[in-house]
Amino acid sequence: MRTREAILPDAAQIHQLISAHFETGTLLPRSFAEICENVRDFIVAEQDGRIVGCGALHLYGPHLAEIRSITVHASGRGKGTGRRMVRALLKQAKKHHVNSVCLFTRIPEFFAPLGFSVVTREDIPDKLYKDCCVCPKLYCCDEVAMVRGSLPTFAILQPASSLVKLEA
Ligand SMILES: CC(C)(COP(=O)(O)OP(=O)(O)OC[C@H]1O[C@@H](n2cnc3c(N)ncnc32)[C@H](O)[C@@H]1OP(=O)(O)O)[C@@H](O)C(=O)NCCC(=O)NCCS
Repeated sequence: MRTREAILPDAAQIHQLISAHFETGTLLPRSFAEICENVRDFIVAEQDGRIVGCGALHLYGPHLAEIRSITVHASGRGKGTGRRMVRALLKQAKKHHVNSVCLFTRIPEFFAPLGFSVVTREDIPDKLYKDCCVCPKLYCCDEVAMVRGSLPTFAILQPASSLVKLEA
C-alpha cells in the first residue's frame, strides 16, 4: 500500500469512497464536481492499483488547514492505512508551513494518538464561517472539534448572518 497525491482520474473513485458516508453524516457531502475542482487537496491510498482510501487537506490560509473526507474502504480497515493518510496530510500541511491543523469528527479517539486535542468550534472560527453556518446541525452538532498544533489567532473568513444568533 502506498499514499500519493490524487490526480483527476481518481476523482470518480474518491467520490464513490466518500459518498458511502454522506447519509450517516460521517463525512460532509461533496459532489463529483466539487471533488474534481478540489482534487489537488486529496491524497489517496493505493493497493494493487486500486484506491482503498482517501483524505483531503483544505488550506484556509497560513494560519490554518483542515483534514477532511478521510476514509478507508471497509475491506481495508485496521491495517494502518487511515493513520498513514493522516500523517501524509500533516506532512502536506508542514510543506505549506501551516502549524495549525483542525478537523471535526465523531471518533476523537482515532485522532488523539496522532497529536490532535479537543477544542471548541469557536476556537476555529474559519471552520464555523465556512461549513457550520450552512450545516443543518448548526445548533445540534454531534461532532468534536480537534486541533493539532497551535490554535489560530485570527480568522480570514467573515461570519454569515445565520451565525449572529450563535455568537450573540
Ligand atoms: C476512521 C478510519 C479512516 C480509520 O482507518 P483505518 O485504516 O481502519 O485505521 P488504522 O488501521 O490506521 O487505525 C489506527 C488506529 O486507530 C484505531 N481506530 C481505527 N478506526 C477507529 C475508529 N473508528 N474509532 C476509534 N479508533 C479507531 C485503530 O484501532 C488503530 O489503533 P491501534 O494502533 O491502537 O490498534 C476508517 O475506520 C473509516 O474509513 N471510517 C469511516 C469514515 C470515518 O469515520 N472517517 C473519519 C471521519 S472524521
